[in-house]
Amino acid sequence: MRERVVSGKLKEEDIGADASLRPRRLDEYIGQHRVKENLRICIQAAKARGEALDHVLLYGPPGLGKTTLANIIANEMEVQIRTTTGPTIERVGDLGAILSNLQSKQVLFIDEIHRLNHLIEEKLYPAMEDFVLDVLLGEGPSARIIPLPLKNFTLVGATTRLALLTSPLRDRFGIVHRLEFYDQQSIESIIRRSARIMGVEIDEESVQELGSRARGTPRVANRLLRRMRDYAEVKANGRITRHVAEDALELLEVDRLGLDEMDRRVLHTVIDKFDGGPVGLETIAAASGEESETIMDVYEPYLLQLGFLQRTPRGRIATRLAYEHLGIPVNRDKEQPQQSALF
Ligand SMILES: Nc1ncnc2c1ncn2[C@@H]1O[C@H](COP(=O)(O)OP(=O)(O)O)[C@@H](O)[C@H]1O
Ligand SMILES: [Mg+2]
Repeated sequence: MRERVVSGKLKEEDIGADASLRPRRLDEYIGQHRVKENLRICIQAAKARGEALDHVLLYGPPGLGKTTLANIIANEMEVQIRTTTGPTIERVGDLGAILSNLQSKQVLFIDEIHRLNHLIEEKLYPAMEDFVLDVLLGEGPSARIIPLPLKNFTLVGATTRLALLTSPLRDRFGIVHRLEFYDQQSIESIIRRSARIMGVEIDEESVQELGSRARGTPRVANRLLRRMRDYAEVKANGRITRHVAEDALELLEVDRLGLDEMDRRVLHTVIDKFDGGPVGLETIAAASGEESETIMDVYEPYLLQLGFLQRTPRGRIATRLAYEHLGIPVNRDKEQPQQSALF
């Protein structure tokens, strides 16, 4: 299947580019004001007391800045960060090695924390709460559990799926923040900043055009900007103007609202095959040829945000707005939920 340019998910091509565009300090981190101000206060207070920052859980759709924020937290705390991911910690011993090597106040970042296996997760509870690691010594009836003291560290966890976290784990985070899709103004600021760093010239009209198609997602904005730069270099002396931006976006099949072919396919599935719903996620997945997890993580959040889809106990419903966007006449016999786009 063709690679999606508007997916918030991290792709190979993003890795190097992401690092150079990634803000390092809270002041450079655009948007997310509530999260930023809350963190700023917690960090300042922890530093003043000379303590480790409370554990932080960040959640929200891919590409909104969770990894960036984890790194910023460490920078602002002036400590090192150790980064790992839920599925790569396979054995209890792996976790033990990581935890026992942490220095005082250091940040341990666990990405995709919802994918930790449950044995590891249980080891994490006393580590987070009391800064001890229960180590099993010996075997059989003479085996004993020895509590090994750890340094006071800060766990930063990130997840796209808060619902998959067990409540004992969730409850052990003192600071929990949900990252939201960025508003148009913030996305435009991000595009201007990235263009500056990349050294690419882009006019204001194109910034707006790009901004409105970036799905409120910085990773998508940066990726579209890179595509646009390629296009401009090959076709227009490297300068991104309105004309260049529009042509490039058309070539990428990204529409006015940032929807691509796969988003449209999901909507068409609900509308054409299931008369607008309600229809279950698994059914949509089977009918559209995409994994249900990907639909839930990557496509659905933005379609919900636009008010194109609604989640009901009986399944997903396509709203009047979705019909209008796709240019499909609404079946008047069918009751349509009223809903307005948020932006
Ligand atoms: N608030 C922000 N301001 C500026 N750029 C951002 C911001 N948040 C994210 N980015 C950009 O988007 C990219 C993706 O962010 P990332 O932290 O990797 O997202 P996530 O971990 O939530 O998937 C980063 O490399 C960075 O360039
Ligand atoms: Mg990430």
